[in-house]
Amino acid sequence: MDLEKKTAIVTGAGSGIGRATAVRLAKGGARVVVSDVNEEGGKQTVEEITEAGGEAFFFRADTSKPEENEALVREAEARYGALHVAVNNAGIAGPMEPLVDYPLEDWDRVIAINLSGVYYGMRAQIPAMKRAGGGSIINLSSILGQVAFHGLTAYVAAKHGVVGLTRIAALEYSADGVRINAIGPAFIRTPMVDALPEDIKRGLIEKHPIGRLGEAKEVAELIAFLASDRASFITGTYYAIDGGYLAQ
Ligand SMILES: NC(=O)c1ccc[n+]([C@@H]2O[C@H](COP(=O)([O-])OP(=O)(O)OC[C@H]3O[C@@H](n4cnc5c(N)ncnc54)[C@H](O)[C@@H]3O)[C@@H](O)[C@H]2O)c1
Repeated sequence: MDLEKKTAIVTGAGSGIGRATAVRLAKGGARVVVSDVNEEGGKQTVEEITEAGGEAFFFRADTSKPEENEALVREAEARYGALHVAVNNAGIAGPMEPLVDYPLEDWDRVIAINLSGVYYGMRAQIPAMKRAGGGSIINLSSILGQVAFHGLTAYVAAKHGVVGLTRIAALEYSADGVRINAIGPAFIRTPMVDALPEDIKRGLIEKHPIGRLGEAKEVAELIAFLASDRASFITGTYYAIDGGYLAQ
């Protein structure tokens, strides 16, 4: 029970990596606020946690809206008394189009959720963690926060931005006891990757030296480690979890 007595928020926890993370944090003893715009998915995650004997509730919040991030943190503090862990995981892939043809409305939407959403999240979470005497924030970047991928203009820009945001936040708030790290998964078997075109998916496996895609549970283990006090000297970093993708 590496997360006993901790309260955690996981955004985008109605699916994929967010769901696996919420389940893993609850298994570690954390009380989890499961948040998503997808109410049905979020409630399924809560059910999975409570059936296994954990504690969680669902709160709907759109992370691209600053006031909804604030409401989410207020609710976590109201229900559980304090906030110690936040996983800024909500994200979308956006379309695959060359940079010049990339639809402007998709650019705005992907940046709003994948980059601004992480900023709005931290703006609300850091003061709460200071009130709690410290905490740990894990921001979902990607291998595409380090390298590019054809067609994913806004996604690549946003995920690189998440690494920068993580560093500036760590610089300014680590001394207050708030550790802030980014993680960079390669391609993980979730609904987001399932939605990619078939020919792209076929080519993906061979890009991973380990010979397979990752599992959401594997990413959840890294997040749980960074959330826990076992990672007490780790802040301001980017951790790849990528089956060797970036080693090439
Ligand atoms: N799957 C991968 O290969 C992979 C690799 C690297 C990074 N990531 C990142 O991990 C995170 C989770 O990805 P996933 O593969 O589990 O995706 P997913 O599509 O399975 O789940 C994403 C969840 O986020 C929610 N969401 C979308 N927009 C939201 C918003 N505005 N507010 C709140 N919730 C919102 C969705 O409803 C969904 O439940 C994303 O940030 C993604 O970019 C994924």
